[in-house]
Parts: sequence; structure tokens; C-alpha cells
Amino acid sequence: MAMKQLNEATNFLQQRINGKPAIGLILGSGLGVLADEITEATKIKYEEIPGFPVSTVEGHAGQLVIGQLDGVEVIAMQGRFHYYEGYGLDAVTFPVRVMKELGVSTLIVTNAAGGVNQSLEPGDLMLITDHINNTGQNPLIGENVAEHGVRFPDMSTAYDRDLQAIANQTAEALELPLKQGVYVWNTGPSYETPAEIRMLDKVGGDAVGMSTVPEVTVARHAGIKCLGISCISNMAAGILDQPLTHDEVIETTERVRTSFLQFVKHLVQKIS
Ligand code: HPA
Repeated sequence: MAMKQLNEATNFLQQRINGKPAIGLILGSGLGVLADEITEATKIKYEEIPGFPVSTVEGHAGQLVIGQLDGVEVIAMQGRFHYYEGYGLDAVTFPVRVMKELGVSTLIVTNAAGGVNQSLEPGDLMLITDHINNTGQNPLIGENVAEHGVRFPDMSTAYDRDLQAIANQTAEALELPLKQGVYVWNTGPSYETPAEIRMLDKVGGDAVGMSTVPEVTVARHAGIKCLGISCISNMAAGILDQPLTHDEVIETTERVRTSFLQFVKHLVQKIS
């Protein structure tokens, strides 16, 4: 982690924004529309921010959106960097370090995930209660910067218990069914084989996806509290007798968009 880049990005953003958002949002596949609801928004394309990873995929550039979500100050990543795109984990998690420098103390992370546990259905929202890093990779490998966090960070409450309680209360008040489960991170970009999904089921995974764990690992290192929500976009490989497609993932996230948006907005209100 290059301190110089972090300072440059932080200084650049501090000059562009007025407030001091305490809540950060990372919006996953098909869920980025939430950032469109941020008012008095300052939108800054990733490519403009010094030190931010440079997107190699044309027409795929994301942005930071900083402003008010129903009156609560937030900083949102509309689009994230994935390991499978070829970014190093330093790059994937750089925005989380920047959020920390800007004053973020709570991070809400969202993603689309395949349902491993057969009590899940496409369209379900799942509160992430814990995760399994199934990749053998870790964004904290390398020299530890003591100002950023300890060498061996505790992950026993990676997903904050109080925030989980707030999420459950909020879902109940909205009469929104909220499942719970363990999220497994695989690198992708290929989807899993049916044998891999049977294995993940046996080891206690409920849903599987290609993101979130790097960001949450770095956020915990930095002392940021995390809340994770998966949108179950499809059943994982081999559960239904049909191939997996990215189109299905996007279709499902679009279908649940309205309730997802409502849920996260209410959550932000409760947390603030
Ligand atoms: N596997 C891995 N990642 C995913 C899936 C899946 O089935 N669905 C959405 N992201």
C-alpha cells in the first residue's frame, strides 16, 4: 500500500467535497442505481482520482458519488474493482483505505451472489453474517503499515453484530423478508462447477460471489464496521438444471431493485 498515493487521493477528494461522510457504500452488480438517489451529489469518476486504479474495460468506468441519501451524508462507490478483472488486491481495496482517511466509520457492502443453500431463492436479500475466503488470497499480505491497522487483525466479528441487529429490525419494519447466511468469496470469473458448489455447501457456505471479502478484510483492518447484503441473483451451479449466465444475475438484481433501494435507504437512516 503506497502511502503517497493514498495521501494524494485523500487530499484530492477533500478539496472536492464539503462534508465528512461517516457511512460508505459499495454498490455491486445491478445495485449501483442507489447512487442515483444521492442528492447534492458530487460525482467523481475513478479515472480522475489520483492513485485510483485505472479501468481497462471500456465504458465500464465507475465513480464515487458523495452527497445526501435522504438527508444522511454518504460516500458511495458506484461500481467496484474486482480481482478477476486483473487488479491487484491493493487496487481492489484502495477505495476503502481512502474512505477511512475521509472519515468513514461504517461500510455497507452489497453484491450479487449465487445461492448455495437450497432454502435461498433468486430475488432473496441475504444479510451476510460471516464469510469464507475460499481464494487463498488476502489483501493484507505484504508489509503491514502500523498506522493502518495491526499485523494480525481479528475477523471474529467481520460483520458487526449491532449493525446486523439494525438490519433485521429494519427489514421487519418494512415487512421485507431478509435471509441470513455465510458468503463465500471465489475469484471468478468462471462460475463454479456443481462439485465446487456441493463442497461449499458442506463447509458452511450459503451464497457465493466474486467480491466483498477483500473490501471487508481491509475495512476491518482499518477499524471500520461492516454490514453486508447479498442479492441472491441465481441458484449456484448444479442446483437447477440450467446454465448460469450474467444476464440472469442482472435480471434478478433489476427485479429486486426497488425493495433493495428502500431497504438500504432505511438502513442508512437508522445507522446515522
Ligand atoms: N457464483 C459466483 N459469483 C456469482 C454468482 C455465482 O453463482 N452469482 C452472482 N455472482
